[in-house]
Amino acid sequence: MTTEPLRPVTADDAPIAFIDLKAQQLRIRDRIEARLMAVLDHGQYINGPEIAELEAALCEFTGATECVGVASGTDSLIIAIMGEGIGAGDAVFIPGFTYNATANAVLLAGATPVFVDVKPGTFNMNAADLAMKIEAVREEGKLVPRMVIPVDLFGLPADYTAIGKVADAYGLTVFGDAAQSFGGAMGNARVGALCEITSTSFFPGKALGAYGEAGALFTTDHDKAEIWRSIRWHGTDAARAESVRVGFNGRLDSMQAGVLLEKLAIFPEELELRAKHAAYYDARLGEYLNLPAREEGFQSSWGYYTITVPSRDKVRDALGAAKIPTAIYYRQALHQMAAFTPYAREGGLPICEALAGEVLALPMHPYLTEGQIDRVCDELIKAL
Ligand SMILES: Cc1ncc(COP(=O)(O)O)c(C=O)c1O
Repeated sequence: MTTEPLRPVTADDAPIAFIDLKAQQLRIRDRIEARLMAVLDHGQYINGPEIAELEAALCEFTGATECVGVASGTDSLIIAIMGEGIGAGDAVFIPGFTYNATANAVLLAGATPVFVDVKPGTFNMNAADLAMKIEAVREEGKLVPRMVIPVDLFGLPADYTAIGKVADAYGLTVFGDAAQSFGGAMGNARVGALCEITSTSFFPGKALGAYGEAGALFTTDHDKAEIWRSIRWHGTDAARAESVRVGFNGRLDSMQAGVLLEKLAIFPEELELRAKHAAYYDARLGEYLNLPAREEGFQSSWGYYTITVPSRDKVRDALGAAKIPTAIYYRQALHQMAAFTPYAREGGLPICEALAGEVLALPMHPYLTEGQIDRVCDELIKAL
């Protein structure tokens, strides 16, 4: 890991970026270029040595014993669901408040999503509602409950202890969608080692992002990892000759792996900076509005810093006029989106629906300055 100090690349009065990939690139541009040149030199664009090097480095970072690099976070979700033999007739429980990829992956694997409500403070799956939804599915007798996918929204790990207890009671596999939480932790365990299977995304805007599409799967189960390696390569055997199961092309490419290796080297320091910025936002905003919840023993990766404000759209417009970029993740709960309304259940998901009208993500990246955060907070407080 690098010990090189941060170069001051951002000024207090500079335009504020929602996510600043340029400032990060300035720090490590020479090392990224060297990685890309190495791929051009050896010419193994697919399955080059960078893949195994990255998978080993990610195992070391997370504490998982197996890592399988794949082409995107979405592919990692589909591969893990397929790998468990989950498909038609199976119920997969997912939060109703997450990115659409989680639901799409369940449906693309042929299974049926069952939406679970979330907790207002953490935005993550409510274990009590999960138990109720499992009971309801069992009573209906049409689908077999097989898997739960807690999503670590905005960077905060879901409550894997409470969800794990419910999953154990009903024999469900726990599969963590950590697309937004890579680098987060629960106690001494990092995301990647919090449940049986974890997937993540290295989309460029994620806390650890590539310069294109990329993702990864984590486990401590060697057999599962071998199945994922097969599925990501058209379901082939170890010799990559015969297809022994259904699969597709879900491989990570060597250039993305090279970029990720250099970004991983500065990632621990970037996580600390994100946590510092989140604490400063908390200190500035705590008396005015609902902050993202902090849970004892949980460490967010601070993929996003998301507040809830009842007059969200008005506040967002005012911030926009002051050139403060913000984002809304998400304007609708999943069961309200046209593609997924067939899977909506009676009674809806009251917390997911309320959050969709109030969430607002503020600028968050390691290269913010306190002066910039002050500018965001001053405008925000004015707009309330
Ligand atoms: C919660 C969640 N799951 C899955 C994904 C899919 O990842 P990708 O865009 O790499 O396919 C994302 C990406 O934004 C996400 O936020």
